Amino acid sequence: MIGPHRIEGYAIVSTDGMIADGNGAMPDSIRNEADQRFLQTELDRAAAIVHGRHSHEGGPRAARRKRIIVTRQVATAAPDPSRANAVLWNPAGATIEQAVAMLGPGEGTIAVIGGTEVFGLFLPLYDAFHLTRAAQAAILGGLPLFPEVGPDAAPEDVLARHGLHAGPRRDLDAAAGITLVTWERPRQ
Ligand SMILES: NC(=O)c1ccc[n+]([C@@H]2O[C@H](COP(=O)([O-])OP(=O)(O)OC[C@H]3O[C@@H](n4cnc5c(N)ncnc54)[C@H](OP(=O)(O)O)[C@@H]3O)[C@@H](O)[C@H]2O)c1
Repeated sequence: MIGPHRIEGYAIVSTDGMIADGNGAMPDSIRNEADQRFLQTELDRAAAIVHGRHSHEGGPRAARRKRIIVTRQVATAAPDPSRANAVLWNPAGATIEQAVAMLGPGEGTIAVIGGTEVFGLFLPLYDAFHLTRAAQAAILGGLPLFPEVGPDAAPEDVLARHGLHAGPRRDLDAAAGITLVTWERPRQ
């Protein structure tokens, strides 16, 4: 939690746990309409979104959403001069609580949507992580979901290592092999 806000992560990964190719682009093989509908609906309910400078979610309702953009272009946290509803945040110089207070979100969750370093930064804090898998796609030499993902650690291993527990698997698009598992941190 950050104050009253639950922290929830969202990602779609390849069979080998990658979120993008080695050039930092998200290939069509892990883009899926049902997953996009799920993500966009969840983000509409969120109080704020957190993402790195290359991971804007896009879509027709994006401008209405409040967001924290992770970047080293500022030393601490500052309103984004080029975008209403946005705060630029450098985790090395300000806490997430300070960035959230500056943004002033309403009620709801804080949704973390990537990329690799940003997903990793929140591992100790997630209340839930919504992990979509694309069973028909591998991305050799891609960007991993978390910095810890590699030949010996799948995304699920990393989530379990950080105290989250898997919920039931849901088919989002059975024909395309797209499944969703929500990982939850047990309440204390
Ligand atoms: N499959 C999925 O679910 C999913 C999810 C998210 C993203 N993606 C894809 O992944 C690709 C981008 O991934 P990425 O990991 O390169 O992108 P990213 O995290 O969105 O952007 C990287 C930038 O964010 C800033 N940043 C990241 N960590 C930081 C830290 N600890 N401190 C300060 N600034 C930090 C830096 O910005 P500055 O250069 O401004 O300092 C860095 O250059 C895109 O293709 C995107 O579409 C896929």
